[in-house]
Formats: sequence, C-alpha cells, structure tokens
Amino acid sequence: MRKIIFVTGNSHKVKEAGDILSPLGITVEQNNCGYPELQEDELEKIAAYGAEYAAKKLGSEVMVDDSGMFINSLCGFPGPYSAYVFDTLGNERILKLMEGERDRKAVFRCVIGYCRPGEKARLFAGEVEGEISHESRGNEGFGYDPIFAVGGRTFGEMGEDEKNRLSHRYRALLKFSGWLKNPGLKSTY
Ligand code: IMP
Repeated sequence: MRKIIFVTGNSHKVKEAGDILSPLGITVEQNNCGYPELQEDELEKIAAYGAEYAAKKLGSEVMVDDSGMFINSLCGFPGPYSAYVFDTLGNERILKLMEGERDRKAVFRCVIGYCRPGEKARLFAGEVEGEISHESRGNEGFGYDPIFAVGGRTFGEMGEDEKNRLSHRYRALLKFSGWLKNPGLKSTY
C-alpha cells in the first residue's frame, strides 16, 4: 500500500478518499496543518497553491482537494466560493435563492492537487452533473449533499458507496490514482 498525506480539515473528504483509493492500493492519512485558501476564481489555482504550500511546509508529498458546486441559473455561483457561502448562507438560503427557478442544473467539481516538495503541483479534476433539489433531503454525507441530486436522489439520500461510485471526487481520484501508477502519463485532465 502506498500512503499519501491528505492535507485537509475535512474528515468527510478523507473518509471518501480512503474508501475510493484503498481498493486501488493507496491509503490516505489526514494532516490538519492547513494552508491559505486563496480567494480565486478557479478551483485549480486554489488546489495548486495549497498543495505546493503544504508540500513545502511538511517536506513530503501531499494531496489536497478543492471542490465547488456551480449552479447554472446563478451563473456558476457559488463555485470557488462554495465553502464561504455554505458557512454564511447554508443550504436553506440557497434553496430560497432557487425558489421558482425552473433551471435547476448544477455541476459539482473537485480538483485534487498533488505535490512533492520543490516541484509544481499536478492537478486532477472530476465533475458530476446534477440538479439542485427543491428541498433538503437525506442525512448522509456533508456540506451540500442534501441539496445536490443525481438521477433524482440527493447525495444526502445515497449511502457512501453509491456517492463514491459517481461523485466528482471519485472521478478526480480515479485520474489521480491512474497517474500515480503510471506517472509517465502526460495529461492529467
Ligand atoms: P472545499 O473544497 O473544502 O473548499 O469545499 C467547498 C464547500 O463545498 C464546503 O462547504 C464543503 O463542505 C462543500 N463540499 C465539498 N465537497 C463536497 C461534497 O462532496 N458534497 C457536498 N458538499 C461538498
């Protein structure tokens, strides 16, 4: 088993990454050392900066995860500001913003940043298309899971296994693990 340090304060992300990566021969270990979360308009920039910062700070290879939910009818809001908006508005206020809106399409994106000390970060992106539900449903998962639905069911209504088979995080981690096994591969996107 190869062990990679996952720098994040979010233990839900660590659990999901562990469940997805362990069958692929990779274990993850959470490290809470933190990194400055840039207020940038692209998840890629935030993940790259975080991975490079943490690799330097810890002196070892690390991975980070920056994710965001992009709502079509709100021009991609909250996107890269998803953490701030979740903490300030929360799911119920987002549902309020969406009241009467027929276009409920949304995309969840995840960018995994991986970095070794002294190197540039490598990025692996995954996304899943879904819809903002009309009400909060389900108690599973975390964050926006109760209002983000795929195939009519919110992530909050799905068990971990079901979410982990189709999520943005799963898709990004699959690319990441493929590259780890074959680092000669050029493209990460
Ligand atoms: P960040 O990647 O930690 O910046 O996350 C942005 C926001 O999206 C936070 O409020 C997270 O709780 C939320 N979030 C990230 N990943 C997921 C997910 O898989 N499901 C639901 N919410 C998520």
